[in-house]
Amino acid sequence: MEIISRNNMAKHQKFLPQKKNALILDAGGGTGYWAIKLAKLGYKVILTDISEKMLKVAKNKIKKQKLEKNIEVRRVDIRDMSCFPSNYFDMALAEGDPVSYCLKPEKAIKELARVVKPNSHVIVSVDSKYPAISRLIAEESFNKIPKFIETGILEHEHKFQAFSPEELRNLFESNGLKVIKIIGKPVLVQLIPKEKREEIIKKHFRKILNLELKYCDNSSLIGFGGHLEIVGVKKRIQGTPLALKSRRDLPYRIVEQRINGSPSVHSNPFAPSLNPNLGEMFTSGQNIKSQNSYANKEEKS
Ligand SMILES: C[S@@+](CC[C@H](N)C(=O)[O-])C[C@H]1O[C@@H](n2cnc3c(N)ncnc32)[C@H](O)[C@@H]1O
Repeated sequence: MEIISRNNMAKHQKFLPQKKNALILDAGGGTGYWAIKLAKLGYKVILTDISEKMLKVAKNKIKKQKLEKNIEVRRVDIRDMSCFPSNYFDMALAEGDPVSYCLKPEKAIKELARVVKPNSHVIVSVDSKYPAISRLIAEESFNKIPKFIETGILEHEHKFQAFSPEELRNLFESNGLKVIKIIGKPVLVQLIPKEKREEIIKKHFRKILNLELKYCDNSSLIGFGGHLEIVGVKKRIQGTPLALKSRRDLPYRIVEQRINGSPSVHSNPFAPSLNPNLGEMFTSGQNIKSQNSYANKEEKS
């Protein structure tokens, strides 16, 4: 199922920055799954996470792949990214539910919206309400359902905040992010009875994947998603020139200098040019399962 969720990112290739050496924030980036892929495409990435353990694994992976010059790793809480200036990144990513886990989604989205430049994309994936409701029904925990539907908060292995597509849309819109699209991931797999799920996916993987890619943004199916993924773009505040920076923005140029190894913002001589076949980045299922199960283990410990 995870492979299908990851592959759904293929839908979002077009939202990657066009500019070579663009700076991307991978917030709640865990062990670096996305940061490494983005760095290999030539982007500069700042990978942040609240967990030292996850960051330690990420650092080792980055070192092994000799990507230290392209990825900066920092311990930062997604709810308070005051270490970064406003209008700083060319894109921000918060994949794999950090916004759900942090339990203060308004703060996290507000921060993600603040740190990206106007007209830049923010892509976030969160837990969806539907699978949790179906689990509560299966467990016959009917008394928990009304509160969960109202608050979206539930404790199952860990505490998390789940969303309906409408709630997620409102969260983005109320923080100055214009919603471009919302997808469910996966949407159809959720509807296969649990006991048959693994067997059917194994047997018909390609067919199911194609259907998922075709219908993940179908408005009548999004809400069935195991997770929801939203793409927004930061609205430009009218009358605010893009170049306007606050005084507290100034020291943060240092971060870019450290990544580039040079004081010039766009002068990384080591960055390869962008891979024109961006689809490869998202459609390879290699190592997805092992990476993710590691991340999950880390998450629980
Ligand atoms: C399932 S992992 C996803 C990691 C990575 N984004 C990926 O897709 O592989 C969720 C991550 O969110 C991080 N996280 C949870 N709460 C956070 C917070 N308040 N601030 C930053 N990261 C947080 C966890 O430490 C964990 O690494």
